[in-house]
Amino acid sequence: AGDPRLQGISDAIRVVPHFPKPGIMFNDITPLLLRPAVFKDAVDMFVERYRGMDIAAVAGIEARGFIFGPAIALAIGAKFIPLRKPKKLPGDAFSESYVLEYGTDCLEMHVGAIEPGERAVVVDDLVATGGTLSAAIRLLERAGADVVECACLIGLPKFKDFYKLNGKPVYILVESR
Ligand code: PRP
Repeated sequence: AGDPRLQGISDAIRVVPHFPKPGIMFNDITPLLLRPAVFKDAVDMFVERYRGMDIAAVAGIEARGFIFGPAIALAIGAKFIPLRKPKKLPGDAFSESYVLEYGTDCLEMHVGAIEPGERAVVVDDLVATGGTLSAAIRLLERAGADVVECACLIGLPKFKDFYKLNGKPVYILVESR
């Protein structure tokens, strides 16, 4: 909190009412991606937090965790692990389902992507109920990883500044509006 970069990041997120369904306030990060200085500020804030913390892996959640995760991974010298929606990965995979408003969805991770004891950070654009991040944490822990923290650009106010999911801290930059 108090970092002057946060206002620019917040201003670059467009809130779209009633998308993709009536009653949903959609936080659109695409305007932020069109402003390289702001995009860089967001990545830099995560890099500054995780550099030097012996993080072996950044695990990004499909789809928008794939936009921010690799930039963070490269900057801190960590590997990038894509956590994918079902039936996308060709190899043996761990699978964890989670509950949505209607029905369930699932995240998968290749077996062998991470070694027992390796330290990991999970990255996504937004946390709402936390169901998606919780599934990601369970996936990594099934492989024996040490999940250090989850990182999101946007979170519900309850996640600001620090909240826990499955006992793991959630670090967010800005609150959803
Ligand atoms: C959004 C968002 C997170 C998830 C957060 O993804 O990018 O991954 O919802 O919600 P939760 O905290 O309630 O679990 P979405 O379901 O829109 O999937 P997509 O990235 O494939 O579009």
